[in-house]
Amino acid sequence: MIRPSDLSWDEVVRVGAGTPGGNYLRSFWWPVALADEVKDIPVPVKILGEELVLFRDLSGHLSLLGAYCAHRRASLEYGIIQDNGIRCAYHGWCYDRTGKIVDRPAEPIKTAPNINHPCYPVRELGGFIFAYLGKRPAPPLPRYDVLVQDGFRVVERGDPDGGKAYKCNWLQGVENTTDTTHLTYLHGIYKSCPAFKPVEGDYGVKLYILEPRAQPGHVAIRKRGTVLPTINRKSRELYPKNPGEPTTTLQQAIWVIPIDDTHCEEMRITVYPEAPAEKSYHGGYVKQAKQRERKSYDRRFYGEIRGNVPLEDKAMVESQGAIVDRNLEHPGWGDRAILLLRKMIRDGVAAVANGELPKGVLKEDLAMVDLDIGIEQYPADAVPQSRQELLAELQEQAAQI
Ligand code: FES
Ligand SMILES: [Fe+2]
Repeated sequence: MIRPSDLSWDEVVRVGAGTPGGNYLRSFWWPVALADEVKDIPVPVKILGEELVLFRDLSGHLSLLGAYCAHRRASLEYGIIQDNGIRCAYHGWCYDRTGKIVDRPAEPIKTAPNINHPCYPVRELGGFIFAYLGKRPAPPLPRYDVLVQDGFRVVERGDPDGGKAYKCNWLQGVENTTDTTHLTYLHGIYKSCPAFKPVEGDYGVKLYILEPRAQPGHVAIRKRGTVLPTINRKSRELYPKNPGEPTTTLQQAIWVIPIDDTHCEEMRITVYPEAPAEKSYHGGYVKQAKQRERKSYDRRFYGEIRGNVPLEDKAMVESQGAIVDRNLEHPGWGDRAILLLRKMIRDGVAAVANGELPKGVLKEDLAMVDLDIGIEQYPADAVPQSRQELLAELQEQAAQI
């Protein structure tokens, strides 16, 4: 029986197959590509330290196979897509969509039943291709609200130049998205650190934040969260330029994808009420990052980061080191959401090591997983009974900071 406290940080954060952390992460479905990226050529995928190739065969079925050909290890990213599978470009070994070798042109025996080529289940949902790399049978693919709810979906992935793809371990990326304090200090989104309460929820860390931007005479509680193991789930409000116009609420989920022990990238979905007039801000910051001038004596790795939110995040999490040494930290009260996240992840890693299902993995298929994210706003004198205690706690905290 392994207890969470038995695990070293290395055992928690490393992603390789057979490691405690790697086994934990393999209990979940992961987005591995945007659905639009999978067209008529194979797509290389690297996740959890495994190199894979994703393709849609000529019959329209998706398949995710080990990248390196079993013959002499050429990459199937150059493979030729077939009716049912893919053929290696080097000597023509042909794999069906389950990874079975069905043809070897230079061999008298065409099949190779003893070779188990890696092949993982894949599913398309909400604009992403999801894959499951864990022990079979695969659990149900969670239909998180953003993946199935009404609206106009925009899916994006990390860009190594502009931000949102980090040269560091995945947990640093997830801790950053769980960290509300840096929104004020690093990004300047709030004037002062808002009061918040982290709660251990059914799917991860649920955060209740006292929203400073409530309408006059109102109080507002912002609900966001980190869905285990790495999804940042939040809403974004586009406030009107002119008084009287309605506020538009966007719903967002951002997966931090562990590429290997020391690299991760984001896969992000934004749900707009209707198609936005201009494409999301993703392209904007890439351009900004590239255009930024650097002082001739600026020896810092990224130079000036202030004012470029994604670059601010990238610089902070990468500057902690490829795998931060958490034994040297001094976390405080403002970090309690992160400490709760760490506890829940350590619980999950221990659960998997003990042969149990970790929190966040579905036991049964659900039509939709409602993560209950957004803003609750009430007239200050009409807060429902069910929210009065939480609000009093947040307001008391706000008075102390
Ligand atoms: S390396 Fe793929 S067929 Fe030879
Ligand atoms: Fe940030």
